[in-house]
Amino acid sequence: MPILRAEHLEKTFAAGDVAAAGVPAVRGIDLAIEAGEFVAITGASGSGKSTLLHMLGGITRPSAGRVLLEGVDLASLDDDALAVVRRRRIGFVFQRYNLLSELSLVENVALPLVLDGAARRSCEAAARAALEAVGMNHRATHRPDELSGGEQQRGAIARALVTSPAIVLADEPTGALDSVNSGRIVDLLRQLVAERGQTVVLVTHDAAIAAAAGRAVTIRDGLVAADTAGTQR
Ligand SMILES: Nc1ncnc2c1ncn2[C@@H]1O[C@H](COP(=O)(O)OP(=O)(O)OP(=O)(O)O)[C@@H](O)[C@H]1O
Ligand SMILES: [Mg+2]
Repeated sequence: MPILRAEHLEKTFAAGDVAAAGVPAVRGIDLAIEAGEFVAITGASGSGKSTLLHMLGGITRPSAGRVLLEGVDLASLDDDALAVVRRRRIGFVFQRYNLLSELSLVENVALPLVLDGAARRSCEAAARAALEAVGMNHRATHRPDELSGGEQQRGAIARALVTSPAIVLADEPTGALDSVNSGRIVDLLRQLVAERGQTVVLVTHDAAIAAAAGRAVTIRDGLVAADTAGTQR
């Protein structure tokens, strides 16, 4: 059974002007991702990559089709159950980071564990370790607005990894990083796949990163245009 499966997934956004037709961002995607895969999603700006990733992660509800995560149809979950799945099984790196501005970096990273009721000391220790892994421990007590874009991005990656989630969904996680830090993050993600059996799906515009992934899926106009895994399972 794939760990993550998209079946005929569609998302049409309402147009700004009510009289206009909606925006069909994703137009019917079938995708099966096996546990332990490292998948890169590429495609032009506006092709639907973020929309797809948000549906895979249970952040956006599809207009049609469904997402099965570890065999569970996300549409069958109420908001509370979905929040638990998102917190415990998925680590999501947002394209715009989405760190909470009133919390320090280490508090942001610890948040998924704190919300899950873990003891405060162990939350902080785990958050520190995650920050260390992305080279950001030295800024742990700073607030996001005191950090550079790339530093915030690395903090957002640490927050996604802190729970050791089965599935990491990362939207251009190296978009704001220099080549050294970008390489470090890709190495880290590859290590999660190789050594811990975690599953990583990342959106990237970087051809070298896509080539380094085990599988590359190309999105064009809201559809899968190419998939190096060949026939979709
Ligand atoms: N909330 C929204 N409301 C209306 N239209 C949206 C919304 N979010 C995305 N879109 C539209 O859906 C399409 C796909 O957007 P999406 O963000 O998925 O693209 P993307 O492939 O991630 O692009 P990029 O590489 O620039 O991040 C675009 O035409 C975009 O304008
Ligand atoms: Mg995007």
